[in-house]
Amino acid sequence: MEVQVAQCAERLQRQEKEIKFLTAEVDRLKNYGCLGVSPNLEGLREENAKLKYRLNVLQKSLQEERSRSKPSKGMININSRLQDIFGVAIKAAYPDLENPPLLVTPSQQSKFGDYQCNSAMSITQILLKTKEQKVSPREIADKIARNIPDNECIAKIEIAGPGFINVHLKKDFVSKQLSSMLVNGVQLPALGERKKVVIDFSSPNIAKEMHVGHLRSTIIGESMCRLFEFVGFDVLRLNHLGDWGTQFGMLIAHLQDKFPDYLTVSPPIGDLQAFYKESKRRFDTEEEFKKHAYRCVVLLQSKNPDFIKAWKLICDVSRKEFQKIYDCLDVTIIERGESYYQDKMNDIVKEFEEGGFVQVDDGRKIVFVPGYSVPLTIVKSDGGFTYDTSDLAALKQRLFEEKADYIIYVVDSGQAVHLQTIFAAGQMIGWYDPKVTRVTHAAFGVVLGEDKKKFKTRSGDTVRLIDLLQEGLKRSMDKLKEKERDKVTMGFLFSVSRK
Ligand code: ARG
Repeated sequence: MEVQVAQCAERLQRQEKEIKFLTAEVDRLKNYGCLGVSPNLEGLREENAKLKYRLNVLQKSLQEERSRSKPSKGMININSRLQDIFGVAIKAAYPDLENPPLLVTPSQQSKFGDYQCNSAMSITQILLKTKEQKVSPREIADKIARNIPDNECIAKIEIAGPGFINVHLKKDFVSKQLSSMLVNGVQLPALGERKKVVIDFSSPNIAKEMHVGHLRSTIIGESMCRLFEFVGFDVLRLNHLGDWGTQFGMLIAHLQDKFPDYLTVSPPIGDLQAFYKESKRRFDTEEEFKKHAYRCVVLLQSKNPDFIKAWKLICDVSRKEFQKIYDCLDVTIIERGESYYQDKMNDIVKEFEEGGFVQVDDGRKIVFVPGYSVPLTIVKSDGGFTYDTSDLAALKQRLFEEKADYIIYVVDSGQAVHLQTIFAAGQMIGWYDPKVTRVTHAAFGVVLGEDKKKFKTRSGDTVRLIDLLQEGLKRSMDKLKEKERDKVTMGFLFSVSRK
């Protein structure tokens, strides 16, 4: 039957193309004053209406056949099963809608059932726009509900609010799924070819403390990596460290003043954040120091060995601090910071220039990307590169050298516009086709304090991540002790450890 459905759908698609073509022809003829409809077109339209009807019937019976067939030993993806079921129901209720929206999600609260289908609201809009029909979402929800095919998993349907369809699953269906999982373990979906995924996560900045936002990125990114690896993908875990830029000028200048023999004796920088603050204060207040800092940037960029050494020393201090956190969280990540892309950036600028995408504005080289009002700055007026340039270079490297099928950026939502513009620029210049390669921003919100502002200490500093983790450990231990749970051996927890 699946073959029959596919054949029918294919024929339908072919004929629809032909109808489109003929309709355009007819319109053209009308413009020339030749009225009348081609008999060929009329015939095709009629045949198509029949085909659509037949496709619906076939799809419905396929659905029913699938539901009747014995549940497989493997796991069922309940969400996609429900999508299938609602897909059939919507098609049966509104056969003329092309690609109707299939919005099935788990319910936020159990009183609203286990899952819900929220397609009715969007269908209302579509009917209004495309057919000028005014139908309330509740009415649509009702029609969809009446067309739900027989199935093995839904116990009850309720229509709620403006037109949500709440789905209650059958208890025995859920318990069968759970026991199959317990007996057979978690069954993996069949993975066609092995895909390569690059995940850019954590990515703190050298000489600045890792803050709570980086913690989110670290945890979410690590979890994604584990999931992709579990399913059998080839995962590249990348730490896009902020390890390059003009701030290194002032850090190196300060290092040279404070530890003049840094080339031979390793400088005891204990607290790099304090060191950063001190150099920033000097940069803002001492004119001579500022000039010196700028000279240091130039020397660093020209790869002067003494300055590279100073840069490495500073990076090492941060690196050790970051590693403590990764060890504590059992996170594995490869360092590939912004500095890695420095040598590639000239070519990136050239490529955009040759493509005719670059404009010069006040000495800066900028690139406008369709759909985005703020341009990317790829070269600053002093000739230096920017965060935009390094992200373009990183995107290209991941596509062409790593040959990634998916690239995921786990970064807070504050950087959404930056990343979307970078992705759009990559498409504009022809680096990838989003239908083939998935490049996405896995965004998460900014962590807020009790005052609903960005999470900071009372004195206005960002909270040190290591202190936060230690505080968390201490508080959970206090809670365990309070309930005397610290005396209970939780054997099962230890048996679920990672390989
Ligand atoms: N270092 C950046 C920050 O702390 C995050 C980098 C995210 N990754 C990227 N490819 N831009 O804000």
